[in-house]
Amino acid sequence: FAPATRQPAGAGVADIAHRGASAHAPENTLASFYEARAANADYFELDVQETRDHVPIIMHDATLSRTTDAEKVFPGRSPWRVGDFTLAQIKRLDAGSWFSARYAGERVPTLVETLRDMEGSDMKLLLELKNPALYPGMTGRVAQVLRAQPDWLLPDRTVVQSFDWPSVESFHRLLPSVPTGVIGTPTTRQLPGVARYAGYVNPRYDTVSAAYVRAVHAQHMKVFAWVADSPATMRRLIDDRVDGIVSNRPEAVPH
Ligand code: G3P
Ligand code: CA
Repeated sequence: FAPATRQPAGAGVADIAHRGASAHAPENTLASFYEARAANADYFELDVQETRDHVPIIMHDATLSRTTDAEKVFPGRSPWRVGDFTLAQIKRLDAGSWFSARYAGERVPTLVETLRDMEGSDMKLLLELKNPALYPGMTGRVAQVLRAQPDWLLPDRTVVQSFDWPSVESFHRLLPSVPTGVIGTPTTRQLPGVARYAGYVNPRYDTVSAAYVRAVHAQHMKVFAWVADSPATMRRLIDDRVDGIVSNRPEAVPH
């Protein structure tokens, strides 16, 4: 995507590619992260879960069925839970064909592989701890992976978020230099408590209003709203003064 395809003036809103540029390539694969970079997105978002042998990998669903061929490769292993399979087993899966034959053979990336691969890009990372309650110890292991990848610890390069707010707080204690975010819409009464450990509030787009954004900003936190794919919704969020828009179509987010 050439910059010329961009829509004009988004008042500096961050363009965040949801699971990569997931409208154009299979979500949460290196191909979708490359597409996000080609679209000049500022951030790529991804979901981290763990294999049975405790390797952080990139996968959205708690089961492998929707985005891989696990049911074909491992028949009889219903319900194909991510945490029931080793990394070696998951590496046998095709994570691209479900999306398009063009992506046949795309693999499920580990977090380490993804960070190494994207390190040389100028992109930032929005990392979601997905279903941490299913993977005891995952939060600490993700912090360890990041500690070993100093490029991703540069100021403001990485934001770690989760629907599971206690895990966000734990992560903040483990690695306080990395900004964190809560996914959801804390009430205005909850915001001061959240601000003690998070720098971002990341609400679903249809729960956002200009007044809510002001309330979050008053606590010195930023707002990354998700998931907006239509120009009208993006424009409305920009008018509400959000700081970032999470989209499956990063090429459409006005900068
Ligand atoms: O950035 C927030 C967004 O990723 C949360 O939704 O279900 O796509 O992980 P989900
Ligand atoms: Ca996510």
